[in-house]
Amino acid sequence: MTYKQIEESTIQKLRDIVGGENLICEQEKMADYSHDEFSLESIRKLPEVVAKPKNREEISEILKLANKERFPVTPRGGATGLVGSCVPLYGGLVLSLENMNKVLEVDTENLMAVVEAGVPLMEFYKKVEEAGLFFPPHPGEESANIGGVIATNAGGSRAVKYGVIRNFVKGLEVVLPAGEIIDIGGKIMKDSTGYSLLNLLIGCEGTLGIVTQATISLLPPPKAMYTLVVPFNSVRDAINTVPMIIKSKTIPMAIEFIEKEPILVTEEYLQKKWPSREGEAYLMIIIDGSSEEEVMGLCESVGELCSANNALDVFVADTKERQDNILNIRSQIYEAIKPYTIEILDITVPRAEIASHVERVHEIADKYGVWLPTYGHAGDGNVHTHIMKVKFKEGKIEEAKEGWEEQYHQVRKELHIDGINRGGIISGEHGIGIVKKEYLSMALSKAHIDIMKEIKKIFDPGNILNPGKIFDLA
Ligand code: LAC
Ligand code: ZN
Repeated sequence: MTYKQIEESTIQKLRDIVGGENLICEQEKMADYSHDEFSLESIRKLPEVVAKPKNREEISEILKLANKERFPVTPRGGATGLVGSCVPLYGGLVLSLENMNKVLEVDTENLMAVVEAGVPLMEFYKKVEEAGLFFPPHPGEESANIGGVIATNAGGSRAVKYGVIRNFVKGLEVVLPAGEIIDIGGKIMKDSTGYSLLNLLIGCEGTLGIVTQATISLLPPPKAMYTLVVPFNSVRDAINTVPMIIKSKTIPMAIEFIEKEPILVTEEYLQKKWPSREGEAYLMIIIDGSSEEEVMGLCESVGELCSANNALDVFVADTKERQDNILNIRSQIYEAIKPYTIEILDITVPRAEIASHVERVHEIADKYGVWLPTYGHAGDGNVHTHIMKVKFKEGKIEEAKEGWEEQYHQVRKELHIDGINRGGIISGEHGIGIVKKEYLSMALSKAHIDIMKEIKKIFDPGNILNPGKIFDLA
């Protein structure tokens, strides 16, 4: 990959495009733009310049300049990603969407919102709620930006009944790598008009275009919503209950499983209390419906199924405050255990395989003498195993283990192989980025990867947009 260093004359042109106040050129002010939430420092890289455009025209001008002067451009949203997708691997320019942060419209007639890419999820939930509507996906970290969750096709915990981000994005405004601006889709619920560029752009990790605006479908809010926390003595009992719940035709909004140890660390980190201390693993189940009676009835039948599967208890959170507390603890697990984490995995297997996969995780943990706590989106078969640099004994974190670097590669490889052998994939929601690139050829056929590379070349012949992510071009 040959790129040119950004020279002072180019900086001047960038200044003309975005304005001096929206350009960062001093190295000491760029540290924040050198990483995402991936735990290891090894994939950090400082950009040469950071630009914060205010509109799509400025983005188009930047991309045209990048092609002409041969510098790479790495788009960046809330930087809550976990695979290094927004890290400027080859230096160049980081294009931060932080100034494009407006919810432009919440259309209560069509149940659609039109938002700029840099809107944080937190702000989006608020605006949607104020308009009396509901956006189900909850990818966890609410400081994530709309553009970023589209770029990774994020999922999160509330996807079992309503689906992931892809199911809600109906239209995109995108600046393509050569600088053209295109509008795809709109406030429409169906689209069979040619190849779906929309679905190609969703999940492309900013390698095919920069999303500047999105049209997102919304739902009327559920009339009632309860959260259950159900402790079990083993993670197998907890997970085995999941297909039974789904087959019973009660489709909860979320079915999460969480081992006790990460909960203990997160309680301490947030100074909040999880509703139960019993058992070794929990299911967290969110059930919504069109009346209190309906939801209470559903909770009762789910509770009975859990009890029949050796649940130790069933806690019901019926107030918004308690529900938010539970979802917050669940969503902050990564943040809480990140300092002790080498890598969080995102393996997704067929739902019926999760319990066996998690058992394999335990075997690998024993084999290598490492701590591999797991939790995840059980209803979607999406398992987050953390490869840790520490051990956890009697409720306490133990010092980093010597030699973890050598074991790390072997452990992660064995875990991925197990996921793939079960008919799974290497990422259900976090994406590939830099971190999981080396496993792509294990997960996808050569023909599949070759087509992706050809598509990348059509969109971005100069390879200036987010190079070195998902795969390397020869
Ligand atoms: C979660 C993120 C890490 O599920 O995907 O908490
Ligand atoms: Zn997740």
